[in-house]
Amino acid sequence: MKAIVLKDVVKPGEKKADLYLEEVETPKPGRGEILVQLRSAALNRRDVFIRYGMYPGIQVPSIPGADGAGVVADLGEGVQGFEVGNEVVINPAMGWGDHPDFPKPTFTVLGVPIDGTYAQYIKIPAENVFPKPAYLLWEEAAALPLAGLTAYRSVVTKGKVKEGDTVIIPGIGGGVATFALQIAVAKGAQVFVTSSSEEKIAKAVELGASGGVNYRSENWVKELKKLSGGGDLLIDSIGGDTFNDLVNLAKPGARIVSFGATLGPVNNLLMPRVFFKQLHIMGSTMGTPEEFAEMLSLYEKNKIRPVVDQVYPLEQVDEAHIQMEKGSQFGKIVLTIPQ
Ligand SMILES: NC(=O)c1ccc[n+]([C@@H]2O[C@H](COP(=O)([O-])OP(=O)(O)OC[C@H]3O[C@@H](n4cnc5c(N)ncnc54)[C@H](OP(=O)(O)O)[C@@H]3O)[C@@H](O)[C@H]2O)c1
Repeated sequence: MKAIVLKDVVKPGEKKADLYLEEVETPKPGRGEILVQLRSAALNRRDVFIRYGMYPGIQVPSIPGADGAGVVADLGEGVQGFEVGNEVVINPAMGWGDHPDFPKPTFTVLGVPIDGTYAQYIKIPAENVFPKPAYLLWEEAAALPLAGLTAYRSVVTKGKVKEGDTVIIPGIGGGVATFALQIAVAKGAQVFVTSSSEEKIAKAVELGASGGVNYRSENWVKELKKLSGGGDLLIDSIGGDTFNDLVNLAKPGARIVSFGATLGPVNNLLMPRVFFKQLHIMGSTMGTPEEFAEMLSLYEKNKIRPVVDQVYPLEQVDEAHIQMEKGSQFGKIVLTIPQ
């Protein structure tokens, strides 16, 4: 089969590792595994971090890619509930375990070191395979798993979003942020966003946001406070100084859920505001298989379409990664897999 292969591990600060389009052996599903012929894969920030050596546990050679959707091509021994030809999406949270609050220490994300979705075929435990919502196009289905799951746990399980809540999501151009917006809107919340781009704010409003401000403007925190009245729930992937801005924007008793730190750690956290305002600050990463199923059914019930910014053929994976590094996208960047 054709696959994109990562062959080098670089140290942070060195030139990024190249990706190679190669002919490799098609995997054979073992006991309890399914072979999926992939139709589409999607990019995540993690895939780029791995090329820069900025991710734990990198091993080579291995195939990147956490997100994918395709057709069941073969069943390993003992697999039940699936047939060859079923259309499926893959849950990239590998081996969560039994505790709903946190995963097992061996938990990992699909795609390096476990061979991922930038390939024509993948073998994957049956427990990670879910029916594809029929209304979704292949590229939309591939866009959904990692970002949809992360957003669902952050907004619903951890954030406990409810009708009428004011939700603030900074950096709406981010891959997970658009899913958080769609999920919060579907749950009846009023959502306000920030972005470096007026165009992305306008697109967020089309998706149901009530408004947004440009975080490059000097007074964006004041502007957003005036516009939103403050947040009951704030969903953060930005970290850095933005985290303190969110502490300022939080209403008394608000929940802040952090699932990323694109700007790095927060310096000098405003501790007195955290305790005087009685804030709940929570961390979140990926999610359980049950949350994955709930996320799919929320999308299906509300016929929500994941936002796909751009689709590239697999062989143009480098161009796709460059677009992600530039950050010009709104929503997901997807790869089409040759059949
Ligand atoms: N814990 C988990 O399970 C999990 C899962 C997925 C991702 N993550 C992490 O979450 C972070 C986001 O990943 P992603 O893939 O969703 O997004 P992404 O594609 O990395 O997008 C980053 C976005 O951050 C926004 N941004 C950058 N600087 C900003 C600033 N100063 N203030 C506000 N927004 C700013 C930009 O929004 P605009 O374009 O609108 O300006 C940009 O589009 C990453 O650090 C990633 O590693 C964690």
